[in-house]
Amino acid sequence: MTAPVLQVSGLTTRFRTGYGTVTAVDDVSFTVGRGETLGLVGESGSGKSVTAMSVLRLVAPPGRIEAGRVELNGVNLLSLDEEGMRQRRGTQAGLVFQNPMTALNPVFSIGWQMGEVLKAHGRGDAGAAAVHQALAAVGMPDPQRQAASFPHQMSGGMRQRVVIAMGMLNEPQLLIADEPTTALDVTIQAQVLQLMKKLTHDHGTALLLITHNMGVIARMCDRVAVMYAGEIVEEAPVRELFADSRHPYTRGLLRSIPRVDQPRGQLPTLPGAPPDMSALPGGCRFRERCEFAQQRCQAHPDLLAIAPGHSTRCWVAQEGTSLAETPARGEAVDVVL
Ligand SMILES: Nc1ncnc2c1ncn2[C@@H]1O[C@H](COP(=O)(O)OP(=O)(O)OP(=O)(O)O)[C@@H](O)[C@H]1O
Ligand SMILES: [Mg+2]
Repeated sequence: MTAPVLQVSGLTTRFRTGYGTVTAVDDVSFTVGRGETLGLVGESGSGKSVTAMSVLRLVAPPGRIEAGRVELNGVNLLSLDEEGMRQRRGTQAGLVFQNPMTALNPVFSIGWQMGEVLKAHGRGDAGAAAVHQALAAVGMPDPQRQAASFPHQMSGGMRQRVVIAMGMLNEPQLLIADEPTTALDVTIQAQVLQLMKKLTHDHGTALLLITHNMGVIARMCDRVAVMYAGEIVEEAPVRELFADSRHPYTRGLLRSIPRVDQPRGQLPTLPGAPPDMSALPGGCRFRERCEFAQQRCQAHPDLLAIAPGHSTRCWVAQEGTSLAETPARGEAVDVVL
């Protein structure tokens, strides 16, 4: 097997604030291989975005990466100086955010901004032709005209295509997409996802895809890591996660996908709320909400493999006890957890 493009191990990021210390990312490890898509899923506040920002070393104070390694093609990004890091952002690792306006400057044309991205990475001479080609690759009709237009002249879907084109401009080996389609309506969402799938497939790009949406996970990912309260609690190939999840939290997420035949207003939801990240309970962090919680769950479980490629951070599942049947799910439908 070839070495993974991205290998994250023991990553820990904390925010030390006047209100206390938040361990947003706690000893997180995962890999993403060439051409592979790893989904990162979990409720709001579980640490998905801080994980993404930590990988690219974009966490701002009072946040600080306190431990771990982030190896991109075998180089530990956490040991590089800022210049070394800057060179890698955009060339080796691209980033696509939820809101395209955060990545685009309203006062410059699209073509000019894309030209700057090329220049910043020493490819200024590739010029307009490379920009037009990149816009055509994301399905923009009339790339020349689009390059001359400004962000406000475009629809949300068009702008997100531009941001993806920018993220892919230097053909990075790794693309990190944080809720790339959440702000778009469902039809455009499907088109943009399809596009990302095609681009990453054509270029062999490793994709770390962050989403709330289990439907998006089902369509896009090869493997899935589930985050809860700053930790990965389960990791599995996508089919196995949907068919045979081994963590009560993941099962809760899957149960909360609405079924097409279910009457409105009867969606099962996860009872309770995630713990306060600045005052985490000892033991299993999910135990307050867990229907299987037992005495031993007061000790903190490790993330252990229970089958090839499938690991769980649950005492009950680790000893082989079957968790209750996962209720049948509907189609891969849109859901915001
Ligand atoms: N600047 C900050 N200062 C203090 N705490 C922060 C800061 N940024 C993030 N956090 C905390 O880190 C934790 C993880 O946040 P993160 O943004 O990674 O969640 P997320 O999983 O991306 O959620 P969402 O699905 O809502 O985007 C949260 O508890 C959040 O409050
Ligand atoms: Mg987030």
